[in-house]
Amino acid sequence: MDTHSDIKTDVESFFDPDTFTLTHLVTDPASGKCALIDSVLDFDPKSGRTSTKSADKALARIDARGLTLEWVLETHVHADHLTAGSYIREKTGAPIGIGANVRTVQDVFTGVFNLPGVATDGSQFDHLFADGEAISIGGLTGYAMYTPGHTPACATYVFGDAAFIGDTLFAPDYGSARCDFPGGDGEVLYNSIQKILALPDATRLFLCHDYQPGGRELMISNTVAEQRQQNVHLTTCKDAAAYAKMRADKDATLSMPVLILPSVQVNIRAGKLPEPEDNGTRYLKLPLDLL
Ligand SMILES: [Fe+2]
Repeated sequence: MDTHSDIKTDVESFFDPDTFTLTHLVTDPASGKCALIDSVLDFDPKSGRTSTKSADKALARIDARGLTLEWVLETHVHADHLTAGSYIREKTGAPIGIGANVRTVQDVFTGVFNLPGVATDGSQFDHLFADGEAISIGGLTGYAMYTPGHTPACATYVFGDAAFIGDTLFAPDYGSARCDFPGGDGEVLYNSIQKILALPDATRLFLCHDYQPGGRELMISNTVAEQRQQNVHLTTCKDAAAYAKMRADKDATLSMPVLILPSVQVNIRAGKLPEPEDNGTRYLKLPLDLL
């Protein structure tokens, strides 16, 4: 696959401090076309109130730069924030793309939430990427690379010298993504991380989250070489089995993300909220004693 890794890709990033999520805007300056990766729909779990503040900020930047949004991309079905994918599609007409294994994730979670009315064929999204499939943003051609493990549907998007790695690796001082959600697998994630580390050394790996351990400054990307040499979960685990063991031990100590229940219900629908009931209010479900 020709990755044009000698070209420095135009990337602008937005940080949501509530969920530690990084949203990335990738632009082809020659055509003025762009893609927005992993957007955020703000959600207050205490009140159940949604807001489009974060998404509107990204849309305002796209507008201010005179860009045309060609793709809304999801690296995976997030469990810690709601995606603004559907809202952005409504506003711009841009199609939403995700890895084709989203169908597996929909299958699992329509079971968890007992949502027989939610399709499990990926039809809420506009395009389901195959592994290695090319993606064009104007004249900039990249591709989707499947990187499962955190979830079965995780994909990395590679555009020139920039790769958007979703929840695989985090910053070197924080490590890597948990693998204890339904369909997660530590050995599978280890092998996906090796695929990412096989990209050229200078490739910039853009994070989906930065948790700023110790209150350090925000980290948006690291090179392949930096991750290989410094990532605390790579330097301490010599192979897939050791990594999976470390991951399972660590995951057993983690509590569920605050927004997992609302996030997953909304994100398997590409960010579309459930239809209002006959009183005009939309509702999400809360499974008891299940997770
Ligand atoms: Fe995630």
